[in-house]
Amino acid sequence: MTDSNSSDKTLTEDGSLKRSKKKQKKEDAWRPEGPRDPFVMLDSLSEKKQQEIQRALHLFSTGPTLPRTLQQARGHTYRFWDTQPVPRLGDNITTHGPIAEAEVSVREEPFSLPPGFSWDTLDLSSSTVLMELCTLLNENYTEEDDNIVRSSFSPEYLQWALQPPDWLPQWHCGLRVDANKKLVGFIAAVPADVCVYETRRRMVQVKFLCVHKKLRLKRMTPVLIRELNRRVNQQGLRQAVYTAAVVLPTPLSSCRYWHRPLNPRKLMDVNYPGLRLNMNLHRAVKFLRLPEVTKTKGLRPMTLKDVAGTHSLLKTNSSRFQLSSILSLQEVEHWLLPRENVIDTYVVEGDDGILTYVVSFYCSSFRVLNHPVHTDLRAAHLLHVASSATDLTDLMEDALVLAKSRGFDIFSALDVMENKDFLEKLKFSVSDSSLHYYLYNWMCPTISPDKVGLVLPN
Ligand SMILES: CC(C)(COP(=O)(O)OP(=O)(O)OC[C@H]1O[C@@H](n2cnc3c(N)ncnc32)[C@H](O)[C@@H]1OP(=O)(O)O)[C@@H](O)C(=O)NCCC(=O)NCCS
Repeated sequence: MTDSNSSDKTLTEDGSLKRSKKKQKKEDAWRPEGPRDPFVMLDSLSEKKQQEIQRALHLFSTGPTLPRTLQQARGHTYRFWDTQPVPRLGDNITTHGPIAEAEVSVREEPFSLPPGFSWDTLDLSSSTVLMELCTLLNENYTEEDDNIVRSSFSPEYLQWALQPPDWLPQWHCGLRVDANKKLVGFIAAVPADVCVYETRRRMVQVKFLCVHKKLRLKRMTPVLIRELNRRVNQQGLRQAVYTAAVVLPTPLSSCRYWHRPLNPRKLMDVNYPGLRLNMNLHRAVKFLRLPEVTKTKGLRPMTLKDVAGTHSLLKTNSSRFQLSSILSLQEVEHWLLPRENVIDTYVVEGDDGILTYVVSFYCSSFRVLNHPVHTDLRAAHLLHVASSATDLTDLMEDALVLAKSRGFDIFSALDVMENKDFLEKLKFSVSDSSLHYYLYNWMCPTISPDKVGLVLPN
């Protein structure tokens, strides 16, 4: 291993530095320069070999994992989250409002990092920086090292997700290693008007929290969150909305993912994680067959001239929920107007020219690992669906047909909004994965999934 005499410090929850030889030893191990560094040795192996090792580590891992259920969470100590203005697990909240009062002054200087690391505000207008972010996320964002698929974020997707109207560069918060400038951590926020029950607030959506695999379990996440929070506070905003697969204090709502195979043959071929098809291929193909063409008259891709109509349809629809975002015209244009391989939106225009339906789904791409035939896989994620009609089933079936014709292999949706009405009818199956919604510095009663009208793309 590496030299254990080097100076050793580690971050405490308040952002200060504290000595810890054991931790420093681990951090030194991460550094790339030493010839006997195990990570250098690992890097020198072929990708296939690395994946085999990763799979073995994953299978035999006994390391600490965060709770995935509320029951597990009750026995977990949240060293960081217990210091934050978020509701405590188990509290029965009946009031609405901020948890911490706004501080008069916001800390001027960035939070301290361990020696050898620096903050870097990422300039996403630079294609080099954008590619660095793609690399960090594509190699480190996928939670499960199942050795089957890995996320594959494109530069276009990241620009869409991170640069909506009024985005700020300082909210694209990167963490680099001083020695080689490698990007090893990231957290971002984008502004949004969010409605929680009766309150409308300007806040941020937090996205793409990611720490390099070699830097895990070193308490970098609390520093990233604190630093982003400081930068958000500097702009006068005090609340945030975010989602996570893990249980933290305290979910506002807990939702489930549902999946609908569009290309069952390929999904079964690659052994797509979480796919629950208890039937053979022949039956699956027959059972999941979709019509060749759509049924709804007037259904077509959204264009620029539909922005106002879509805006008004979404606005009316959002009033049905207890958690939703209120999009401006510019935001509707940004988040919904179709972009190749990023976002698809379809509308239905009535004979009177008024839009009666909008459905949008964003694209998650995956790289398929170690497969002799398939190299990539595309998932469509339901983002918005709004209609003046009462039953969405036929329209959603059309959305599946369109997604399939656009080359998607699977369609995923959360059981938010009124989605439960069509999920089973359209042969979606519920997955094991949950997604929990959180608000930072805001308390209010919990919300059932059908009253959540907000989907946050990664
Ligand atoms: C999420 C991730 C950054 C956590 O890193 P880590 O090295 O496991 O955790 P750290 O040692 O840095 O920090 C631990 C603290 O972060 C918190 N934390 C972990 N994951 C979190 C998440 N997704 N959101 C908020 N806080 C999180 C933990 O609860 C813990 O605080 P606690 O003591 O109060 O429980 C890392 O696992 C990662 O990059 N994963 C892949 C991408 C991903 O899943 N991102 C999250 C999307 S929501």
